Amino acid sequence: MTTETPVLLTIFGGTGDLAQRKLYPAIFRLFQKHQLQQHFAVIGTARRDWSHEYYRQVVRTAIASLTNDAAEITNFTSHFYYQSHDVNDVAHYQTLKSLSQRLDQQYRLRHNRLFYLAMAPNFFETIAQHLKSEQLLTTDGFNRLIIEKPFGHNYSSAEKLNKALTATFRTDQIFRIDHYLGKSMIQNITNLRFNNQLEALWNHHFIDNIQITLSEQLGVADRAIYYDQSGALRDMVQNHILQILSLLAMEQPAFNNHQSITIAKQTVLEQLHPLTAHTISQNFIRGQYAGAEHVKAYRQNNQISADSNNDSFVAGKITIDNPRWQGVPFYIRTGKELAAKYTRINVQFRTPAGSTAPANRLTINVEPEATITSALNIQSERPTVLKPVSAFAQNDAYANLLQAILHGDATHFTTWEELAAAWKFIDPIQAYWDTHEPEFPNYQPQTMGPQAATDLLTRDGRTWLD
Ligand SMILES: NC(=O)c1ccc[n+]([C@@H]2O[C@H](COP(=O)([O-])OP(=O)(O)OC[C@H]3O[C@@H](n4cnc5c(N)ncnc54)[C@H](OP(=O)(O)O)[C@@H]3O)[C@@H](O)[C@H]2O)c1
Repeated sequence: MTTETPVLLTIFGGTGDLAQRKLYPAIFRLFQKHQLQQHFAVIGTARRDWSHEYYRQVVRTAIASLTNDAAEITNFTSHFYYQSHDVNDVAHYQTLKSLSQRLDQQYRLRHNRLFYLAMAPNFFETIAQHLKSEQLLTTDGFNRLIIEKPFGHNYSSAEKLNKALTATFRTDQIFRIDHYLGKSMIQNITNLRFNNQLEALWNHHFIDNIQITLSEQLGVADRAIYYDQSGALRDMVQNHILQILSLLAMEQPAFNNHQSITIAKQTVLEQLHPLTAHTISQNFIRGQYAGAEHVKAYRQNNQISADSNNDSFVAGKITIDNPRWQGVPFYIRTGKELAAKYTRINVQFRTPAGSTAPANRLTINVEPEATITSALNIQSERPTVLKPVSAFAQNDAYANLLQAILHGDATHFTTWEELAAAWKFIDPIQAYWDTHEPEFPNYQPQTMGPQAATDLLTRDGRTWLD
């Protein structure tokens, strides 16, 4: 039987894209799983002047594909309330406070509050401060702040943001969403490694290289303004890819709990081999697409300047300075307008001494399918078999993460220390790129990026694994 955690969830940016595409469906999934039942209410806030009824209609539309049960929808949406609110206006927090108190009593929410900032980060500090100064934080329930990337655009801006938030919220009250950490297969990397004998092979004696690919088929679409100031390096590598890398590379945590896991992740992020101008120029490839008749070139997007040098593709070779991973490259790549949409990790093992057979491989397919396959050599007409050893349904990443926040479980969230280490690794790459003119455009849409990304592995006598 599921025990419900009573909670009031206030969403700042309740009219926005993130709320409609991700949050309302995720909240509904928790409702269907009885994680939220009777004792919950949601306040959506934004400047638009919506009524509760109109807001409920928006929520209905957002969850329409998830159920046909009209009574279920009506019951669910009856828990949603809308409050027009400008986050810069202190007086508006009083109205929000009154509504919060009323709903707290009406639904018996035990003063538990989640504040989801589904808004641009430049508002985070103001909201956090006003929540405290206007006393929307309760003293006898839990108060948790949920924020979305980007967490700064370099180390110093991230540090400033962190200082601003921790002036109001305790570290253990801040949940930084990295939605890749909500994906079922990513959450299972620790199980895969530490609950199997596989861990005995998980080192440089047996592993030749590890490849992480986050391939996106779409272009920048309607997020061009944001993306052009960020690029693939900051939008995907700094957070998602380095988080995945840290789970793959970390030492076994002392205990299977949040504190031990995040310390293990942080440690490995701090052990990434420091980069120099020379190693950046050799080991990091950036790209920008153009050249297909049916796909607008990156620079032709009408929200992007015609001479933009922003990266829509990154490939890189990362090494780690510790005994476990000496000599083992982690190859990473991500980009827009690539040949297919998938997230995949390939672990390529070394070939046994004297063997001429193909190397063994373990593939962790994160999405679209969630499977693990292995390529092993057996005596048969076809020497290599690809065998799915596991396949399970993907739970929705946002639902996984929201459920964890409800339970106060911070395991699958990014700590400030991890973020700091990641930015310190990324900043020199961005700085080098900012001061060196790229030869853009350099890859065709619907391919796997520039030729230099292939050459990066060829040079080492390796290839990207499918
Ligand atoms: N969309 C995604 O899939 C996604 C994924 C990852 C991260 N993120 C991050 O999540 C955040 C939100 O993204 P989004 O795509 O949802 O943006 P969006 O669609 O532009 O939504 C922004 C929201 O902020 C509200 N808003 C703006 N100024 C306001 C003010 N002064 N007071 C109160 N509300 C205000 C807007 O509503 P009004 O205009 O009605 O005020 C709207 O609800 C961004 O930081 C983004 O980088 C988004």
